[in-house]
Amino acid sequence: MWLKTIKFCTIDFIPNRHKNTLKKQKIEDLAIFGDTPVFKEKLHVGRPNIGDKKNLLDRVSDVLDSGWLTNNGPNVQEFELRLAEIIGVKHCFAVCNATVALQIAARALELKGEVILPSFTFIASAHALKWINITPVFCDIDPNTHNIDPSKIEMLISPRTTGIIGVHVWGRPCDVETITQIAEQNNLKVLYDAAHAFGSSFQRKMIGGFGDAEVFSFHATKIFNTFEGGAITTNNDQLAHKISLMRNFGFHGIDNVIELGTNGKMNEISAAMGLTSLESIDDFIKINKRNYDCYQSELGDIQGLKLIHYDENERSNFQYFVVEVDGIKAGVSRDLLVKVLHAENILARRYFYPGCHQLEPYRTLVPDVGLRLQETEKLVTRVMCLPTGTAISITDIMQICSIIRFTLTHSKKISELLSSGLTGFG
Ligand SMILES: Cc1ncc(COP(=O)(O)O)c(C=O)c1O
Repeated sequence: MWLKTIKFCTIDFIPNRHKNTLKKQKIEDLAIFGDTPVFKEKLHVGRPNIGDKKNLLDRVSDVLDSGWLTNNGPNVQEFELRLAEIIGVKHCFAVCNATVALQIAARALELKGEVILPSFTFIASAHALKWINITPVFCDIDPNTHNIDPSKIEMLISPRTTGIIGVHVWGRPCDVETITQIAEQNNLKVLYDAAHAFGSSFQRKMIGGFGDAEVFSFHATKIFNTFEGGAITTNNDQLAHKISLMRNFGFHGIDNVIELGTNGKMNEISAAMGLTSLESIDDFIKINKRNYDCYQSELGDIQGLKLIHYDENERSNFQYFVVEVDGIKAGVSRDLLVKVLHAENILARRYFYPGCHQLEPYRTLVPDVGLRLQETEKLVTRVMCLPTGTAISITDIMQICSIIRFTLTHSKKISELLSSGLTGFG
């Protein structure tokens, strides 16, 4: 039943290379010059994937009837069991969001002083540390993987360093082996920010079981969501015990608090959404893969665009479709292309622009850090994410790609017109 609500969901993508699907034939037809946008409604990068509404509403109704709305209810318990089973990890704790999850995991791991992490990540990875008085030390990335570059970690280790946070950016795993080696040699803890990586694997083992702990996000924009939410996973029994206490104010039984804790609990309605979303996760991934194939086929030959790939030998959630724009070869900058797309109601995003180190409070605290983050600084000017997920059809993608191809084909003229300030014809 759920499948019926998805446009084209049962057909695989059949390449239809560069068929002239563009509704716009002339430069002045572009919305940036005043014409009507090709899409009436805005196309978002992370429009929520919604599972079977009836199943969700049945679960919500049961929650309301039971009166058990939060505090480790039956939906949360079932959700945690399902997640742990899928990931193949010993312990899984559902939490209210991944930012709080990172803080709980960092505290449970006794991280303090300095922690090394990439700047090319969502600001929450750094803020979670700073919020609990840990200094984030930004490391450069490998331009091929967009993940933390392990060869640049060791030079950042100081007597104050207690851990490393690897972020599996776009759901593509970090170089887990090298990071583990560096951590062991230097007696550091490893936490993975796996906010993007539910459903992805590294060396055929699901993400969630690596490092000392991993943290997922189930925010509304993620591959599957619990409205807001997340999870912490670990194979370490002692750590798991601490996390379970810290998530619930440090309570150990009634009237007994034995840890400094916080409120990181997931509520029952969120867990109901999580269970319902999990029932459809295979379909969500299938649709993302179909969208990915379509984008690859339509954009793969365009000079100046580099498309990121997911390793076909691993499991991937294909959650993001990411393009690097080389302004020189493409004839237009990433920012100009994003402007053209936005005018057409295609809300391409410049993730993670401008990099955590360029945002407050880090920009003021360590103003020169960009000098050692050269790959990050380059990448943040090139990356663009395009809309995908169940809300996007193949026809939508063909239109998006046609606009991109058209813009790059006429890049010189479009750039000239825009730099001369012309944004309207007639
Ligand atoms: C890499 C990364 N880490 C952490 C987070 C924070 O997740 P949440 O919104 O669940 O707190 C996000 C959210 O998008 C993210 O992309």
